[in-house]
Amino acid sequence: MNKKTVRDIDVNGKKVLVRVDFNVPLSGKDPNDDITVTDDTRIRAALPTLNHLLDNGAALILCSHLGRPSSPADTQFSMAPVAARLSELLNRPVQTAANVVGADVTAAAVNLQPGDVLLLENTRFHPGEKKNDADLAQQLANLADLYVNDAFGSAHRAHASTEGVAKAIQAKGGTAVAGFLMEKELQALGTAVSNPPHPYVAIMGGAKISDKIKLIENLLDTAAKILIGGGMANTFIRAQGHETGTSLVEAEALPEAKRLLNMAGDRLVLPVDFVVTDKFDADAEAETVAANSIPADKMALDIGPKSLETFKAALQGAKMVVWNGPMGVFEFPRFAVGTNQLAQLLAAQVEDGTEVIIGGGDSAAAVTKAGLAAKMSHISTGGGASLELLEGKTLPGIAALDDK
Ligand code: 3PG
Repeated sequence: MNKKTVRDIDVNGKKVLVRVDFNVPLSGKDPNDDITVTDDTRIRAALPTLNHLLDNGAALILCSHLGRPSSPADTQFSMAPVAARLSELLNRPVQTAANVVGADVTAAAVNLQPGDVLLLENTRFHPGEKKNDADLAQQLANLADLYVNDAFGSAHRAHASTEGVAKAIQAKGGTAVAGFLMEKELQALGTAVSNPPHPYVAIMGGAKISDKIKLIENLLDTAAKILIGGGMANTFIRAQGHETGTSLVEAEALPEAKRLLNMAGDRLVLPVDFVVTDKFDADAEAETVAANSIPADKMALDIGPKSLETFKAALQGAKMVVWNGPMGVFEFPRFAVGTNQLAQLLAAQVEDGTEVIIGGGDSAAAVTKAGLAAKMSHISTGGGASLELLEGKTLPGIAALDDK
């Protein structure tokens, strides 16, 4: 990576503004309830950077968005539950601020001593955050001497706390660098994008092909095979001229699906069977049918056992695998079999020396749910960010940081 990192800066006695991605799931929405963090993966992922800075004499001002609030009145998106969990994980007090910037925040920041941690309120409570407002960026920059971006999950957003503030810190002579999580994500996903060991195999799933057309096209430059599962497989099956019953199909994406099939030839590996049912229901009766024989009144909700065999054969000997998107409706146990068995297959491949990278979002959730997270080579903390990076896009939150 050609960006400076926390290793390249002296933070002793300095105030460091750290953008983290603490956009984590919470236990509820009612502010009167005791809302807690239900999955602290993203908070834990930032700890190496935070502990490094604290151990080296910095005072920390942390900022993050949480959810998609429409205004500060959306108090269900307050950072307070995150501060409580972070305090447990850091084993030290975490001060909270009632606002993102302003006189009270400035006063709290001025008083910070080395080892202190202040977590600002949800950056999206400020109307300037998503607009990348220069004034908000400047106010954030004024709080600190240095800026560290460890929020890989938000690196595809050009917001005031990701991109604008980096430029504002640089403009006042400060440094803007990447944290350890950012570095780790870029190393793993960056290798997949620009220098994957071959044979390189990609597995794409999830509901929509329209979200991933650019990605599949990009992968055709490097991947030996691209395995397709999830709802998006239906659109390819229809594009091949087969019936897909009541399955989810993106009619408007059929021309693109045909184009990709023509471009890819046998490098695009489609399911050969599906688990189908007559209604979208966790307890619906299921049966397995061939991919070209989905009955008119049935929908495909998972890939079948023969598809898994086909995928296993295609994965044989792969040196690197990237997986993005579940193979079926994994939220329903009856239709999670394809996703879980694929996760098991990949865990076994890691043991045989294959580097397996899991894109963030649903595939990360599926692997975690299957109890196999620790077995994978890398699980990204970024959903949209990992997709955009794999598409070959430049992420503004990273581009804004100081070059080495
Ligand atoms: C994510 O969860 O993917 C990131 O935190 C970004 O969130 P956003 O899609 O609301 O910008």
